[in-house]
Amino acid sequence: MKIAFAAPSQPKSGTIVVGVLENRKLSPTGAVLDKQSGGALTRAMSSSRFSGRKDDVLGVLAPTQLPVGRVLLIGLGKAEAIDLAALQGLGGNIVAHLNNVGESEAWVALDRFDGMKPKAGDAAANLAFGARLRAYRFDKYRTKEKAEQKPTLKTLTLMTRDEAGAKRAFAPLEKVAEGVFFTRDLVSEPANIIYPETLAQAARSLEKVGVDVEVLDVKEMKKLGMGALLGVGQGSARPPRLVVMQWKGGSKAKNAEPLAFIGKGVTFDTGGISIKPADGMWDMKWDMGGAGVVIGLMRALAGRKAKVNAVGVIGLVENMPSGTAQRPGDIVKSMSGQTVEVLNTDAEGRLVLADALWYCKDRFKPKLMVDLATLTGAIIIALGSEHAGLFSNNDELAQRLVAAGAAVGEKVWRLPLADAYDRMMDSEAADIKNISGGREASSITAAQFLQRFVDGVPWAHLDIAGTTWSKKDAPTVPKGATAFGVRLLEHFVAEHYER
Ligand code: BES
Ligand code: MN
Ligand code: ZN
Repeated sequence: MKIAFAAPSQPKSGTIVVGVLENRKLSPTGAVLDKQSGGALTRAMSSSRFSGRKDDVLGVLAPTQLPVGRVLLIGLGKAEAIDLAALQGLGGNIVAHLNNVGESEAWVALDRFDGMKPKAGDAAANLAFGARLRAYRFDKYRTKEKAEQKPTLKTLTLMTRDEAGAKRAFAPLEKVAEGVFFTRDLVSEPANIIYPETLAQAARSLEKVGVDVEVLDVKEMKKLGMGALLGVGQGSARPPRLVVMQWKGGSKAKNAEPLAFIGKGVTFDTGGISIKPADGMWDMKWDMGGAGVVIGLMRALAGRKAKVNAVGVIGLVENMPSGTAQRPGDIVKSMSGQTVEVLNTDAEGRLVLADALWYCKDRFKPKLMVDLATLTGAIIIALGSEHAGLFSNNDELAQRLVAAGAAVGEKVWRLPLADAYDRMMDSEAADIKNISGGREASSITAAQFLQRFVDGVPWAHLDIAGTTWSKKDAPTVPKGATAFGVRLLEHFVAEHYER
């Protein structure tokens, strides 16, 4: 789908999209069209349930007086409530509707209303951004799809009084969308295609946008003492990797410590010897969602040339059962020096992150660390797919993440950390065990485990097990891989850390 910006004009074909405020108040363009067609739009509204509430849509086959094929009325609700996020959602809903009815070209008449806050250019750019995000589709393996099953919309033109401003505002958003799409692609790929080596290669491709990328192999990780990460990977024919990505867009001063983002990259999680049930195991191809987000985030930051120093560290392993797999009860030594008793080989993400977090803080002395991981099934029980779980040792960092999530519609909900939970991870045989042994508070105890490897650095952990994959369409997120976290962290960086 091609997106364009143009000055307002009367389109001669396709669909024209016009906004309607609540109580069926047509936009200026809508009022003109209504008049030209002898009140056809007003009649269409009053003979339907469409009232202009937010998310209402009504497609009207264009009356003969109009040159276009169709008029699409979209509800905007109250003018004061139209913010950037609402405009993005609108853009997404427009695309979904037009693909549903089989339209191939459309023009959006983005009028302004009294009380509406966003400027004309920003409004058009954000509507376009939402449209672009919703138009994503992972269809490379559907070789027999018929034309009528494919999306039809080829061009979407945003008509705006401020074409230049819209293009300017859209340029960085388009880079963010590229990051989101890269993440969605990687997360959607099956585990026979994406495994540690190929995921590392995908990260490598960021070199072309100016990111420095290093890939550590097993030998190098052994030398560093990453026994926790390596233990998880030892049962697989696919060797583990650790990838370090650096974007140096900020100050060159020696003390300009980077922001660090760390991702769990389990390219497939069978559970290992503590094997998972067959039903639903296919979902574990997206157990590298955290790593996928870190890659997409780095691509977005580099793409829009963010004025920040950021590092991404992702631990990549495949968790398989085999004759060389780690056994329940094994004790491994992590890079931090702490020994870990592995009581359940399915609690593998924390083992991978333990070494990735320690390596990251040891090497980069970051200003802060944020890790993302599809870490626990329990977070899905607690929060469903409405919020990701947030855990942090730092209130300011936590508040900034909550605010960024709210701003972009990737909501996070903070859960507690406390000594009493930490003690539940003490082992009889080693310094720490990888499961508490009970089902109580198991998302929290997982976070407590991670906290033992951050050494006091301001840190936050996002448990994205419930938000990485979606079973239903949302305005800017088609079902499937969501890339939840890319937009949140991109916004978090932009709001607080760019000079
Ligand atoms: N990758 C899973 C968590 C998960 C479950 C993500 C469902 C997405 C959907 C993780 O490695 C895991 O297996 N966690 C265990 C931990 C338990 C053994 C303490 C879990 O949540 O059951
Ligand atoms: Mn697991
Ligand atoms: Zn896992």
